[in-house]
Amino acid sequence: MEIVIVAFQMGSAGESLSRGFFVCIEGLDKSGKTTQSRILVRDLYRRAFKAYFTTEPSQGEIGRFIRKQILSRRKRVPAVVEALLFAADRYDHSEREIKPMLQNGTIVVSDRYVYSSLAYQGSAGLDLDWIKKINKFSPVPDLAIYIDLPLEVLARRIKSDRSVMERMRTQMMVRNVYIELVKRGELIRVDGNRPVKEVSKEILDLVLSRFGHER
Ligand code: TYD
Repeated sequence: MEIVIVAFQMGSAGESLSRGFFVCIEGLDKSGKTTQSRILVRDLYRRAFKAYFTTEPSQGEIGRFIRKQILSRRKRVPAVVEALLFAADRYDHSEREIKPMLQNGTIVVSDRYVYSSLAYQGSAGLDLDWIKKINKFSPVPDLAIYIDLPLEVLARRIKSDRSVMERMRTQMMVRNVYIELVKRGELIRVDGNRPVKEVSKEILDLVLSRFGHER
């Protein structure tokens, strides 16, 4: 579902914001990022902020094409084709949803964004600078969070009909890129190997502190 919650800032909670705030939450499959993105939107809503949940691949035409024709196939297309498709979907997603929401003062929470392309298509061998270049038409997030999990915890969470070893190898390579982006200061690492409530509190605190500074 595209929109989970759109809440409007009310009453004495504050004047309407001239510009929104863009957060993306990244992580490996099974890292808990979808759960945490939804909790974040709910927590912001409870604090009377306008908050909007969205996800990539998006619910638009290109996003639906990616889910149906690319992700659900056993044999994947070349990484270059994937990167170009994800970049096209991202542009469409930004123009249709992210930018209009930000312009009306909403906090947009995206479950995956450009860092997924860097981590997944980058770990498949593509140059990170090239991936950034083809995504330059999409807005840079105000805050980019990476929920990290040790590989052994991930292995326990993975149940797949594909060979677990093969899946783990891919996940390890994707994780290496995410960790590199954390080291470069492009992503903020949150330890995902803790109770859901602890993780969500840290994420909310990060958003509220950054959001305050942006005003
Ligand atoms: P999805 O079914 O949404 O899984 P998840 O709940 O783990 O996000 O599928 C998203 C998949 O698409 C995931 O395996 C990562 C991949 N992906 C990329 O490879 N590059 C990208 O730019 C994006 C946005 C996703």
